[in-house]
Amino acid sequence: MTGNILITGGAGYIGSHTIIDLTGLTENKLISVDNFDNSTSQTFERVKQIVDYKITNYEVNLTDLEKTKQIFQDNSISAIIHFAAHKAVGESVENPLKYYHNNLQSLINLLHCCKEFEVANFIFSSSCTIYGQPKNIPVTESSPILPAESPYGNTKQIGEEILQDYCKANSNFKAIALRYFNPVGAHMSGLIGELPNGIPNNLVPFITQTAIGLREKITVFGGDYNTRDGSCVRDYIHVSDIAHAHTLALNRLLKNETKQQFEAFNLGTGNGVTVLEAIKAFEKVSGKKLNYKIGPRREGDIEAVYSDSSKANKELGWIPKHNLEDMMASAWKWELKLQENGGIK
Ligand code: WQD
Repeated sequence: MTGNILITGGAGYIGSHTIIDLTGLTENKLISVDNFDNSTSQTFERVKQIVDYKITNYEVNLTDLEKTKQIFQDNSISAIIHFAAHKAVGESVENPLKYYHNNLQSLINLLHCCKEFEVANFIFSSSCTIYGQPKNIPVTESSPILPAESPYGNTKQIGEEILQDYCKANSNFKAIALRYFNPVGAHMSGLIGELPNGIPNNLVPFITQTAIGLREKITVFGGDYNTRDGSCVRDYIHVSDIAHAHTLALNRLLKNETKQQFEAFNLGTGNGVTVLEAIKAFEKVSGKKLNYKIGPRREGDIEAVYSDSSKANKELGWIPKHNLEDMMASAWKWELKLQENGGIK
């Protein structure tokens, strides 16, 4: 099917990597909507350097329904890949209304546009946080959805429920929720990657900023968990592998290969990695000795989670290509490039 693909949050970490992956694999024209709330327009210039693709971006806040509608009035949209959302777990606890308003109103506005402009294909950026602290790991897509640990996680749970209800009320509409585990790393070119605002919340940018001297040390949040070395276990997955899953999901929708109107897929490697193991992997690939100490647990952290992604392997044909050392090496290469350019912003 021809027709444009609307990518919300196209200048963001996963959105930009997905644009790169899509350009090689779809004849559909890509359009981005990104108000640069947590990204920079320079990312599009770097995407052009990598794949020579100049994407059209609408600098629109998706909570503004009229401005969002205008995009659909001006372009025939065949599918939407919806990344744009606030995503800092800690900030969502301090400022829940910012998260509920932005993340849910944006989704609802997009679905109003789907209704009015007959867009029938939707990919939703979801998260493993919807599983909370699972009783059994690895988690599959049918693992219980436990009460969210944060307003951020709750917006992902509610987002999936909204999509399921919209599917029930609109028989021609199909949606795929991709439940990311811990996306890390950067494009192998080193030209795009994660751009944390201020002090990073997440582990890997904190590791690379400590290694390059921007941060004095890393605190490992908790060394007394019931895990093999006492630190938390996560399923780190390379951002380029996450990106490719979106291309596969889009093809599945456009070729009408879905088996239900609403489908969900876990996106992880299936390997549980502790914080200390992640630090050791970074030290090995970078040759840098990291200054870290074991500190108190972080409020809201779960002890251990990792995925059973066999459904995505089988149904999407999605097989992650990058291992933990690739993830750390690419993150480090990106940090070095960032500092070479005075911290691209
Ligand atoms: C990972 C581990 C910390 C920083 C993220 C996203 C969330 C979702 C899932 C997509 C934890 C430990 C961290 C530090 C540390 N992704 N850590 N010292 O909390 O698993 O959630 O992935 O939706 O949006 O936030 O990721 O990178 O913050 O933490 O010890 O300085 O590293 O305790 O065990 P998290 P994270």
